Amino acid sequence: MMLDAARRLVLPSKRSDVPPFMVMDVMAAAARIEAAGGHVIHMEVGQPAAPAPKVATAAAQAALSGPLRYTETLGIRSLRERIARHYSDAYGVSISPDRIIVTTGSSAGFILAFLAMFDAGDRVAIACPGYPPYRHILTALGCEPVLIETTEETRWAITGDMLKATHARSPLAGVLVASPANPTGTMMTPQALDELIQTSEALGIRVISDEIYHGLDYAMKAETAARLSERAVVINSFSKFFCMTGWRIGWMVAPEPLVRPIDRLQGNLAISVPTLSQIAAQAAFDGRAEMDEVKHGYEENRRILVEGLPKVGLDKFFPVDGAFYLYADVSGFTNDSFDFAKRLLEEAHVAATPGIDFDPMRGNRFLRFSYAGSAAEMREAVERVGNWLGKR
Ligand SMILES: Cc1ncc(COP(=O)(O)O)c(C=O)c1O
Repeated sequence: MMLDAARRLVLPSKRSDVPPFMVMDVMAAAARIEAAGGHVIHMEVGQPAAPAPKVATAAAQAALSGPLRYTETLGIRSLRERIARHYSDAYGVSISPDRIIVTTGSSAGFILAFLAMFDAGDRVAIACPGYPPYRHILTALGCEPVLIETTEETRWAITGDMLKATHARSPLAGVLVASPANPTGTMMTPQALDELIQTSEALGIRVISDEIYHGLDYAMKAETAARLSERAVVINSFSKFFCMTGWRIGWMVAPEPLVRPIDRLQGNLAISVPTLSQIAAQAAFDGRAEMDEVKHGYEENRRILVEGLPKVGLDKFFPVDGAFYLYADVSGFTNDSFDFAKRLLEEAHVAATPGIDFDPMRGNRFLRFSYAGSAAEMREAVERVGNWLGKR
C-alpha cells in the first residue's frame, strides 16, 4: 500500500482536533517536582480532597456482593425520585422524577444535552472566561461555541442585553450559564439568572444551566434554573458538593419533550450509567451533614486566601462567591500567565492554573487558584506566594 494511503487510514477526524485541558500539563510538571522530592501545594486541581460521604461508600460496599446489572437507561427509579426530592428540599420546587435523567457525571450530561437540543452548525453562547470543555464538546459535535466576553460590571456573567446583541449579529440556538462558575468562582444573582432566562426564551434561545457547584455557595444562595423555567435544561453532578469525582455520576433535569430523545441517545451511547455509582449516589443524600463539614473547610480556606493574598501583594481577584476557586488578576506582574504559573510552580512549588485555559482572549492576565485543599496548605501557599513575589 502507498505510504500516503496507509497514513490516511489512521488519520484522526477533523472534529477530534480539540485542544487539551492545559491544567493537565501543570499537574504533570508538579508530579515531576514531587518525584524529585519537592513538596508542591496543589491549587491547580478542581476537585475536593475529601472522600465521598461514608454512607455512600457503605452502600456501594454492600451492593458489591449483588449482581450489578445494567439499570434503566434514565437511571434507577429510586435515585431519580431521590433527586426530585432534593429539588423540593433544597429549592422548594416540585420536579417530577420523570424529568430527571441520571448521567455519567455532568460531562456526559453536556454531550446528551447538546445532542438532544442542537443540530450541527447551531451557535451556542458561553461566557468567557468559562470551563473549556463546553466549547470543546460543542466543537467536536459540529456546533459553534460563541464566546461572550464578560466583565466586572455584570459580575462576569452574560446578561440579557449581551445575548440580544450577539443574537442580532448572527442567530443563537442556545446559551449555557454556570453559577457558581469555573474558573471565576463568581455567581449570578437569582435576578440576573431570571433576567437572562426570560430574555433568552423570548428570543427563542434555549437555556442550559450548569449547576455542578450548587451547595458550594458562600456569597448568596444559588438559584436553580429549574425553578425559573420548565424549558431550561439543568445539569448537575455528585462530583463537587458530594466529593464523588471518580464515581462519575451526575444528573439532568430536562423539559418533558426532551426526556425520550435523551433516553434513546443514552441507551445507544452507554446503555446505562454505572450501577454501583448510582447506588452510592442515592445514599450520598443521607451524607449531607458530613459534606456540610467539608464545605465549612472551604469557607475557612476562602477566608485565609481573601484576607492573606492582598497582604502579600496579590490584591486583585474576582468576587469569591462560590465553588472553590479564586481567579486572580496577575497583570501587575506579567502579561504571560502561563510562564508566571510555570515559575510559581518551579520556584515556590505552588501549582495554579493559567487563565489562558479558560479565556483565549484575556487569560494571559489571570491565574486560577483552587482552595479545595486543607487550611494548613492555604496558609503555607499565602506565605510561599508572598516570599516569591517579594524576591522578584
Ligand atoms: C463547571 C464545570 N462543569 C462540569 C464539570 C464536569 O464535572 P463532572 O463530569 O465530574 O460532573 C466540571 C469539572 O471540573 C466543572 O468545573
